[in-house]
Amino acid sequence: MKILEELYQRHLSCREGHPATYIPELAKANVNNFAIVIATIDGEVFKVGDHDVQFSMQSTSKPFSYGMVLQEMGRDFVMSKVGVEPTGEAFNSIVELEKNTHRPYNPMINSGAIAISSYIKGTHFQERLQNMTEFFSQFAGQKLRIDDVIFESEKTTAHRNRSIAHLLRHFGVIDGKIEESLDLYFKQCSFMVNTVDLAMMAATLANKGVHPKTGGRALSEDYTGDVLSLMFTCGMYDTSGKWAYSVGIPAKSGVSGAIFGVVPGKMGIAVYSPPINEHGHSIRGLKVFQDLSRELNLSIFRK
Ligand code: DON
Repeated sequence: MKILEELYQRHLSCREGHPATYIPELAKANVNNFAIVIATIDGEVFKVGDHDVQFSMQSTSKPFSYGMVLQEMGRDFVMSKVGVEPTGEAFNSIVELEKNTHRPYNPMINSGAIAISSYIKGTHFQERLQNMTEFFSQFAGQKLRIDDVIFESEKTTAHRNRSIAHLLRHFGVIDGKIEESLDLYFKQCSFMVNTVDLAMMAATLANKGVHPKTGGRALSEDYTGDVLSLMFTCGMYDTSGKWAYSVGIPAKSGVSGAIFGVVPGKMGIAVYSPPINEHGHSIRGLKVFQDLSRELNLSIFRK
């Protein structure tokens, strides 16, 4: 696709930002890696750049675990535990949890996602992990692997997330298996994908929960709308308003440098480039999505 090649060349020379450093393994990422992929709901894939390079999903995993728990536990239960309001705060904020409602505002921020991980079903940790891996893998259309080095790197430095989990326990949002819930959260953040995989996962959401190539159902149609609406209002954290205005599609970013977006009924889009800004978003990713939205008229408000 010509436009992907043009966008790649246009933003390749961008040198802004740097890879996330608070998880030591992520700091080692190659800043030159850059890939853009579009996967349509008909199963066509258009790609440019380093689309084979693998990276950890980080927060791009949050919409999928939310979908999983919605499907397993039902809307009423999930709504009673985790809200659906944007915070206007950073992804790892603890203030609104402490000061206001005493429950996470939404499942796209760390507090909400850690709570969501704690509800993943299974009789013991390995079974819960296996359930989660199977669920995520259906979105990718292949078995996903967890990178244990990245997992350990996050686990041993996650003082802030550990504080959030303890506060969640204090307010009765999660049960006493605090470390197990955190481990599930760190494991989901450590699922390894490349940009094609992430675009296919996005396309599966665009296709009402059915993988465009395998034809397998990853999520019930009823819940894909829940996931997309949360991505739209909260997926880009404290810049979700600006994203809605300038890009206009549901999306989610991760500190590894990935952003994926969903054009419902049409396509999934993923961009990977490790240098991020102070909000945790890939800088090349933001630029590509803004241009792509304008040039392909993707915004759901400009139809
Ligand atoms: O919880 C964390 O800090 C990371 N595992 C994920 C954060 C993240 O990706 C934020 N997104 N841009």
